[in-house]
Amino acid sequence: MLSTPSTPTLTRQEINSLVGTYGYVPVEPPPGIDLYAEIDRLRREKRAILLAHYYQDSDIQDLADYVGDSLGLSQKAAETDADIILFAGVHFMAETAKILNPTRKVLIPDLNAGCSLSDSCPPEAFAAFKARYPDHKVVSYINTSAAIKAMSDVIVTSSNAVAIVQNLPPDWKLIFAPDKNLGEYVMRKTGRPMVLWNGVCMVHTIFSHQKIRSLRQQHPDAELIAHPECEPAVLEQADYIGSTTALLKYVASSPKKRFIVATEPGILHQMRKAAPEKELIPAPSEYTCACNTCPHMKLNTLEKIYNALLYEAPEVNLSPDLMERARRPIDLMLEMSRKLGLLGG
Ligand code: 13P
Ligand code: SF4
Repeated sequence: MLSTPSTPTLTRQEINSLVGTYGYVPVEPPPGIDLYAEIDRLRREKRAILLAHYYQDSDIQDLADYVGDSLGLSQKAAETDADIILFAGVHFMAETAKILNPTRKVLIPDLNAGCSLSDSCPPEAFAAFKARYPDHKVVSYINTSAAIKAMSDVIVTSSNAVAIVQNLPPDWKLIFAPDKNLGEYVMRKTGRPMVLWNGVCMVHTIFSHQKIRSLRQQHPDAELIAHPECEPAVLEQADYIGSTTALLKYVASSPKKRFIVATEPGILHQMRKAAPEKELIPAPSEYTCACNTCPHMKLNTLEKIYNALLYEAPEVNLSPDLMERARRPIDLMLEMSRKLGLLGG
């Protein structure tokens, strides 16, 4: 880290060069400053909105203007009139916000915050896969790059995937990418066959179905709630399956007192706030590590958020042509969600 300016003393060229090397601006904030207060001051001054996903650290969630799941975050990004959108999430989320707001400045605290699921679907390989099914339409999970979205007919999130697939024209033959677990789940729920791309999320596939089974024997009163990105052996045991927002709402409204939670543990923060009296047990992973924590989401810190606002970098930029092509299937998702009354949280 470089040392401590309190105002942006770097030139734009220096900022760009640091971002090019590190993926963020590696400057130590002035010692002793109240990061919460400074971020708050900067966001008001610059008319910026801070959007955060539930998998962010709790201090970031507490500071955000809006915390939500992927559907809620994209709906929020579509309706904001802020001059700057600062996205505390991963790259595909900030990219989606940029596609929806081509003329606004979209910032991300750290450009290295990728997504294993999005990375499991490289555009060239997917184009070749798609070419094998010329009469199929493409349904893509929002956890994809803009290049994959541009090759898609409609985007879905874990909140609306079942409802959207159910409501697509019945004569459409479908490819689903990139999450094969979510794809299988959607096929089971809708009864519609789909050709699946073979991708997974490194976090949601690490849960041990055997350890979960024995945990359930120790706590027979506990309900297992799981995100649909989990493996089928976990989903088969689950009492409830849903997006992060759906899981949060379920914990808050269920009469049960104890839950085994099979998703990234960042969501526990909002669950504890919504239902402080309930016991939440993070689902165990295959290994004795914290590998059910998303390493990409956790790259974001308050310091990086402060620097992103102060230096207005790193910025997410895409070519106008790519944004135009990637926007069509996102707009269709937002339009179908609106008609179906589906709101993210
Ligand atoms: P949702 O919050 O939309 O359920 O997505 C979970 C996830 O893995 C985001 O990367
Ligand atoms: Fe990607 Fe999985 Fe992390 Fe979500 S939890 S951002 S799907 S790697």
